[in-house]
Amino acid sequence: MANGTHNPVESLIEDLPRTRASLLPALWRLVEHEGTLKRESLVALSELLGVPAAEVYGVASFYALFSHDVPSESPIRICTDVICHLYGADALYAQVRAVAGGLVHESPCLGRCDTPPAALVGRSVVAPASPEGIRRLSQESQLW
Ligand code: FES
Repeated sequence: MANGTHNPVESLIEDLPRTRASLLPALWRLVEHEGTLKRESLVALSELLGVPAAEVYGVASFYALFSHDVPSESPIRICTDVICHLYGADALYAQVRAVAGGLVHESPCLGRCDTPPAALVGRSVVAPASPEGIRRLSQESQLW
């Protein structure tokens, strides 16, 4: 940080690219490490990723997903919010649900409206998501 002190948030995300695309995985790591999302950690994350604090707060507060571990009964979430809906999320959801059944649930916006449709597989965001991509990542993560 500016005065040379070590920031614990920086250590948590040192392997992530310093871009907006790292926001979701970084938030997951904060929750895993801290058990919650502290205000000072969100400010640090904003500075480290170069993402406006308002956006970091918005994403963090929007997702109840971040306050809990990924539930084992719904490890796959497909965004069916408006942008993803326009890019075929409903069909994607139906296709994946036909194969994975109750492991799949709908999700509000995952913050990846720039590359729709988006899905959350375990703790990895996939965007654009396809049935094949979700299946591959699910198998790699041993979700189904
Ligand atoms: S609407 Fe789907 S990621 Fe934003």
